[in-house]
Amino acid sequence: MNPTLDLLMNRRTHRSFSDRPIEHIHHELIQQATLRAPTAGNMMFYSVIEVTDKKRLETLAVLCDNQPMIANAPMVWLFLSDVRKWVNFFSESGSVEKGENKNIPWRAPGAGDLLLAMSDALIAAQTAVVAAESLGIGSCYIGDILENHEKITELFNLPKYTAVATLVIFGYPKSTEPLANPAIRCPVNSIFMENSYKEPHLQDLEIAFGAQEQQLKKQGRLPFGNTGTISDFYYFRKHTSDFMKEMDRSSKAIIDTWIASE
Ligand SMILES: Cc1cc2nc3c(=O)[nH]c(=O)nc-3n(C[C@H](O)[C@H](O)[C@H](O)COP(=O)(O)O)c2cc1C
Repeated sequence: MNPTLDLLMNRRTHRSFSDRPIEHIHHELIQQATLRAPTAGNMMFYSVIEVTDKKRLETLAVLCDNQPMIANAPMVWLFLSDVRKWVNFFSESGSVEKGENKNIPWRAPGAGDLLLAMSDALIAAQTAVVAAESLGIGSCYIGDILENHEKITELFNLPKYTAVATLVIFGYPKSTEPLANPAIRCPVNSIFMENSYKEPHLQDLEIAFGAQEQQLKKQGRLPFGNTGTISDFYYFRKHTSDFMKEMDRSSKAIIDTWIASE
């Protein structure tokens, strides 16, 4: 082991933070480390909005499936896919016009730009998470930021060719005690494949998620009076939930808005 692997192996999601504000030097170091994240073509197709306004944070917490910890977190960063900056740069600097003079027509950003910018934003987010962790600052991703596209767009004045990628909340953990029960992961051989996709079926999946199922059973958290399976647990709690229906609707709106011709 080395300190980097030690950090990665022991990282945990934190949802409960002390009131201690993020130290200025820590804030700066996380920003600087984030900028060193790999980025497609070094074009930095992402932006980060730090949400500090209390009213906005409270609205955000509601829009993200009612998670009050968002409003109370010491630092809240919204990671955006951002191709808008290049759309403006290309047009305002005259590159588009130079292209037209050479018979190279303008190409509006499409699905490829969106996915590339999503990659950039998510890699930047995870870099921030790891940098924060190294400074003793815990974090939690908020996937529910993909919900309520229209209201989130209005709340943050998001123009076309920007899209939410993820939200991360940060803070010094409330308790200095190690958290109990780290979330169990699938074994390496159920995730890593060689050369081509190997479709997993029931037996493989029961093995892959068996340890997680045992953990939930011990905690009495399986459905049907703790007699259900881990498949039942995720099927009813996540897959068929109202929040996933909203996330689906909203994500489609994000994609449709991005690729709609102007
Ligand atoms: C894309 C993504 C979205 C997530 N969304 C939420 C969320 O909305 N609320 C929350 O409390 N945790 C959220 N999490 C944290 C996961 O629940 C957590 O990573 C998982 O349970 C594993 O725990 P660990 O990070 O401590 O290993 C999210 C994590 C990821 C990567």
